[in-house]
Amino acid sequence: KNIVILISGRGSNMEALIAERDAGRLPVNIAAVISNRADAKGLETAAAAGIATRCLDHKAFAGREAFDAALAACIDEFSPDLVVLAGFMRILTPDFVRHYAGRLLNIHPSLLPSFPGLHTHQRALDEGVRIHGCTVHFVTAELDHGPVVVQAAVAVLDDDDEASLAARVLRQEHRVYPQAVRWFAEGRLTLIDGRVRVAGEVF
Ligand code: GRF
Repeated sequence: KNIVILISGRGSNMEALIAERDAGRLPVNIAAVISNRADAKGLETAAAAGIATRCLDHKAFAGREAFDAALAACIDEFSPDLVVLAGFMRILTPDFVRHYAGRLLNIHPSLLPSFPGLHTHQRALDEGVRIHGCTVHFVTAELDHGPVVVQAAVAVLDDDDEASLAARVLRQEHRVYPQAVRWFAEGRLTLIDGRVRVAGEVF
């Protein structure tokens, strides 16, 4: 299967996907990595790994619709079976989301439906929750609300700060995101009538 990865920054989730592919555990062709920011560190990492990169600066477009239309055109040049949002910090229009229905995944650093949006780790600390984590989900028009594919939980420790909690969650992100993409690549992950099914997996 062909995948395109969208990033805006560091790209550590993208790196985890590249590493799993290199280890022979992820049967995908990473056709391209696309960023909306030219200074995204992940673009250099992707280029160094020999992956095609593109940058589409959202500020160069009149509005969200125009940007998303150009982004979709850029993505579709690579004919992806799956589009993987990996720290892509843009809200997507309903048209864009509809175009990729059932083949657009995101990873969010909280146990959804808790803490959609930004600053999830600080908000988890402020709320005093004992369990936090990350969620891989299909993207729908409502931000951070699509059908859940897989989640990983971590304990919140008494002496955690935002950085230590983020790091613990990130380790889990790097584990479950390649797993979800592998399920898709193996044809085992499907979205039917808004319900996720992973064939052969017991949760
Ligand atoms: C991750 O925590 C991801 O869950 C969130 O943004 C962060 C991106 O990190 N959406 P990276 O660019 O993959 O290192």
